Amino acid sequence: MAVGRSSYSKTAITLHWLIAVLVLGNIVGAVYAEGLPDAERGAIMGIHKSVGITVLALTLWRLVLRLKAGFLVLPTHMKGWEIVLARATHIGFYVLLLAIPLSGWAFAASPERPLIWFDLVPLPDSPLGKAGRGFFHAVHGPAAFLALVLVILHILGALKHHFLDRDDVLARMLPFLRKNRADA
Ligand code: HEM
Ligand code: HEM
Repeated sequence: MAVGRSSYSKTAITLHWLIAVLVLGNIVGAVYAEGLPDAERGAIMGIHKSVGITVLALTLWRLVLRLKAGFLVLPTHMKGWEIVLARATHIGFYVLLLAIPLSGWAFAASPERPLIWFDLVPLPDSPLGKAGRGFFHAVHGPAAFLALVLVILHILGALKHHFLDRDDVLARMLPFLRKNRADA
């Protein structure tokens, strides 16, 4: 794995923001749909499932790019605990971005309710029985809320880098902020 890069590619940045919007949209959509009548909830959850599978595919793409590119150089002022927290948050995201959609597929794609990606591409049914589905159903929501906790931590970290440390970390993901950054 290569090391030592100090910027993200355009593709990595686009994937970062696209995945962020889709994940947050899916959490908001699922929570909003909860109180709705069955027909409307079913329509929203149909989109939810397809968007979730899209997140899975985009995450796999992003992971391949990530493994090829290696870790980015971190600002030299970062303390040991800050580096550990940043790396743990990023790894936690990758684990959850795979686990959340896979758990959804594992409990929700059944012969009674086949999963067809945006009504275009039929996907395989989950091979799990009742107990396995029950397990992944129980995991799915809490995993999404854990991702939400990580997002809050992640945003606080990004804002600390930008406004307190005044380094180029946020500008790596938002290149229009790059001017006037000491490390940029
Ligand atoms: C980005 C990916 C995803 C996120 C962030 C996400 C998030 C969520 C959240 C927050 C809930 C509400 C949980 C609760 O109220 O306890 C939910 C419910 C649900 N999700 Fe997902 N989900 C994703 C992907 C998927 C996928 C890929 C599928 C299926 C293929 C799926 C199927 C479902 C179903 C069927 C429910 C309703 C569960 C119920 O009625 O108890 N989700 N999801
Ligand atoms: C669901 C929402 C989000 C997810 C899942 C997410 C995920 C990630 C992941 C996995 C990385 C590590 C990239 C890598 O090196 O492999 C990352 C980096 C980054 N994210 Fe996010 N992110 C989200 C939202 C945000 C938001 C809202 C902000 C800004 C306020 C943000 C700012 C950043 C920055 C600045 C980096 C670069 C960190 C560095 O260079 O070390 N992210 N994000």
